[in-house]
Amino acid sequence: MTVQAQNQANYDESKVPALVLPDPFVSEKGMLINNLADWEKIRRPEIFHLFESVVYGILPKNFDAISFEKVNEKENPYPDLAELEEVNITVSRNGKSHTMRINLFLPKDKKGPFPVILLINYQPTYPDGSLVDEAFWPVSELLKRGYATASFHAETVAPDNNETYKNGIINTLYPEQIGMPNGMKAYGAWGWGSMRAMDYFEQHPQIDSKKSILVGHSRTGKAALWTSANDPRWAITYANESGCGGAALSRRKYGETVEAINNRFPYWFADNFKKYNGKEETLPIDQHMLPGLIAPRAIYYSSAKGDQWADPKGEFLGIKLGSRVYSEIYGKKIEFPSEFETLKSPIHQESVGYHIREGEHNLTWEDWSHFLEFVGKNLK
Ligand code: GCU
Repeated sequence: MTVQAQNQANYDESKVPALVLPDPFVSEKGMLINNLADWEKIRRPEIFHLFESVVYGILPKNFDAISFEKVNEKENPYPDLAELEEVNITVSRNGKSHTMRINLFLPKDKKGPFPVILLINYQPTYPDGSLVDEAFWPVSELLKRGYATASFHAETVAPDNNETYKNGIINTLYPEQIGMPNGMKAYGAWGWGSMRAMDYFEQHPQIDSKKSILVGHSRTGKAALWTSANDPRWAITYANESGCGGAALSRRKYGETVEAINNRFPYWFADNFKKYNGKEETLPIDQHMLPGLIAPRAIYYSSAKGDQWADPKGEFLGIKLGSRVYSEIYGKKIEFPSEFETLKSPIHQESVGYHIREGEHNLTWEDWSHFLEFVGKNLK
């Protein structure tokens, strides 16, 4: 099915429709938005509401109680570099509770509090979240550079599966969301899990939670963006190769389309998103309006040339056009090259960054190293 959808996709730039994009700077009542007060009071809430109702669904924020319990069941794979905390986070609501697991590594023999990098993991191995695969999550490099780093597995809050995705927090804590056209699905749940990890960071004496960084690749890159649009506690958000429904403009219909993603993954986005299958041009937003929901906090995208399914050019345009809120509303110094085709080196601007590399769809050390350079410049 994957191969079939990918083979049928359009990869011909000359067949990309002429882009007519919704304007982030004109309100629903037709008012021109050109200052911070109008942006924050009028336009940002309008755009947030549209993404919530037609794309991602609600990310509920209410619950009754949260508690943290260190369990420490596994052997620490980095005894020389880190302290490992394996933490069960239990959240209750309306008499029911759900427990998710995070793994946190804190640099050893260094002085905290530390900035922290959270990765939303979805790799099929170790669904309890204990994955330590240096190629994907370079824990030892991050520790050596003085970051604490944590991850949780997406499936510890919502299984990545159309039959079972509700068998996490949706059935247990938020059953009223089921069947709502704008109700939460897997992305809402994964975002919710990231927020609970943040709750843990906030009360941790060795973590500088004002310097929290959220990282996701591909499907969890899309979720990371929606998380950060909902939760202003993230200082930097990184979506690697997040493609359709993440970084890339839907109206380009290049590579993966709205219809293709909704057919294969009907449990990721709100049901309302399906109304736009094959009708991207009728969406009231497009993905270039997503970075503006995260502004002025820093945002980073990246693409791979061999990952045409995610539409690298659409991802580049998503961040380039999206960065206008950073420059025009928040006064950040940003200059994006106009040509995507001739891009050579990473674009690291004030609070906004992007790179494209050779190779296939994956989160690699090359991606991390460019990103960490951007973090160094932007983590104030
Ligand atoms: C599929 C899906 C993409 C997704 C990717 C991934 O290819 O079509 O939308 O980003 O999986 O998560 O690796």
